[in-house]
Amino acid sequence: MLTDSFNRNHDYLRISLTDKCNLRCTYCMPVDPPHGFYAGKNLMNAEEINRLAGIFVKLGVKKIRLTGGEPLIRKDVAQIIHLLSQYPVKLTLTTNGVFLDQFIEVFKQAGINSVNVSLDSLESNAFKIISQRDHFDKVMSNILLLLREGFHVKVNMVVLKELNHLEIIDFIQWTKEYPLHVRFIEYMPFRDNNWNHLQVFTAEEILSLASRKFNFYKLNDRPNDTARNFQVHDYKGTFAIISTMSDPFCSNCNRLRLTADGKMKNCLFSTGEVDLLSALRNQEDVEQLIRQCVWDKKAERGGQMDAAMEDLKADALMNRSMISIGG
Ligand code: 5AD
Ligand code: SF4
Repeated sequence: MLTDSFNRNHDYLRISLTDKCNLRCTYCMPVDPPHGFYAGKNLMNAEEINRLAGIFVKLGVKKIRLTGGEPLIRKDVAQIIHLLSQYPVKLTLTTNGVFLDQFIEVFKQAGINSVNVSLDSLESNAFKIISQRDHFDKVMSNILLLLREGFHVKVNMVVLKELNHLEIIDFIQWTKEYPLHVRFIEYMPFRDNNWNHLQVFTAEEILSLASRKFNFYKLNDRPNDTARNFQVHDYKGTFAIISTMSDPFCSNCNRLRLTADGKMKNCLFSTGEVDLLSALRNQEDVEQLIRQCVWDKKAERGGQMDAAMEDLKADALMNRSMISIGG
């Protein structure tokens, strides 16, 4: 069991497969320096991912999520999915959805039955402004394909005040006829993403906006859920709010992260990271490094976001950009 000094057990590992992406959402990817830091030998190869994952599983990990960048642009992603499907874990991934149609069979063979798709707008122009790419139709048709194929689909929407916050209504409306699970995520600060607290549309504001239009009720959340879940009466889908900024949920956090270059992070906002890939290559004791990294986990948000949101100095945060952490 991977227990930290606050008695939290960690059984959920998120593995980033690449820090590259075919979209350019500015809240995630720094404009300058250019994206894509890790190439060739700096990246974990499929076998190294498999071996590191195996060590985490041995230590008690029960769920693995593949992230990016965009995980599905990695050439050997099908092989990686196949390798990881051999472990007794719930395997899943977060994707921007552009290439999903090419992977339906790969997912089915690996026992993946739940997929998170990032989609910040239901309107193709706004999609293009946010992601700087024209792939709205593709993403939308792939979400509908996943539903037809029987997958559990969560849609992640990062809420940006004045850019897409009014679309919260449309996203909830979407859950009337479709059994989708929409999750509204508060905008978080990462290196070079120009975060400003004025652009955060908070959980409270989301609920207040939603209640002007919908009659909804609270659902029961699962123990380690980062989202607070709701449903409109008689709607097929649900919606949820991830309130990292205004109301963090760290006290029951069970998450660990591995970046594409093989560094372990014990929190999305951790200042430090532990180089598991080098340790693996040098045949050092990876297990002990993992245990120590878990033990060192801070109580909340990497120990560096104690200030109220309004007083946060985003530029002073010590962290990677989101695209190189993996979400
Ligand atoms: N704030 C909130 N969510 C973010 N994501 C990426 N960057 C940010 C940010 N700055 C989301 C993505 C994806 C998930 C992995 O994290 O949209 O859905
Ligand atoms: Fe877990 Fe860190 Fe997120 Fe808090 S901020 S929930 S500790 S990953």
